[in-house]
Amino acid sequence: MDARPVTSERRARVGDREIRYHDAGDGRPMLLIHGFPFSADQWLPQVSAPPAGIRVIAPDLRGFRGASDAGREPDPGLEGATMASHAADVLALLDHLGLDRAIVGGLSMGGYVALALAMLAPGRLDGLVLADTRATADDEAGRAARDAMIALVSEKGAAAVADAMMPKLLGATSRRERPALESVVRGLVLANSIPAIVSAIRAMKSREDASPWLPQVACPTLIVCGAEDEITPPRDSEAMASLIPSARLVLLPRAGHLSNLEDPGAFTDALRRA
Ligand code: MLT
Repeated sequence: MDARPVTSERRARVGDREIRYHDAGDGRPMLLIHGFPFSADQWLPQVSAPPAGIRVIAPDLRGFRGASDAGREPDPGLEGATMASHAADVLALLDHLGLDRAIVGGLSMGGYVALALAMLAPGRLDGLVLADTRATADDEAGRAARDAMIALVSEKGAAAVADAMMPKLLGATSRRERPALESVVRGLVLANSIPAIVSAIRAMKSREDASPWLPQVACPTLIVCGAEDEITPPRDSEAMASLIPSARLVLLPRAGHLSNLEDPGAFTDALRRA
């Protein structure tokens, strides 16, 4: 995540909006979906050094923006967005790219979207990657916390969301050994608009419990989780692994919630075997 120009960046008009995405590497297509409230740029470590034999495609979800996209017209259709509508957007990008099937993965909120996609269109999956995420829906306390976050961002903007989330986004090892990562993460958050953040919080709050459906996942599934993840801790990954017949669980000891940024080498190495 340095200052070199990002040559993997692409734009395509797909349906009712222009999608910005990264596309790098050669081989089996793997589409990676970012978490909340970030953008495709969350995947720059994997995009700049894709796993051997894998083509990494990483789109912005509807509403979300990387820094290079600042100032553009907001995406339409943010009102009423759901995990399923984000999954439909991802499928439309695969169609646009002429890809009938791909390995689909996501981190945290991206994992919720990947699970929604797997439920919508299991035949499009060559594999599933669930990173630092969970299958269960929000409980009552979780939904109340979403309402508080909507109030916070509406009143004080994206910076307040970054401040509120930061203590739990990075694991103890990163906070101690890679303090500069905090400003990278903050930059990802600040590129986003209040309407995009609010729309995503509403979509996460209303998502369904995917757990009952996990035993039907038939494709190879890699579950990755930072051992120091305080937002979706390893027990959430272990619960998914116990329900998905083909699951393989990899815990990354030196990473927290943003495991692909905190220990990119180990994360990318895990992807190589997805
Ligand atoms: C994320 O990292 O995408 C979010 O923290 C997920 C969530 O809030 O449920």
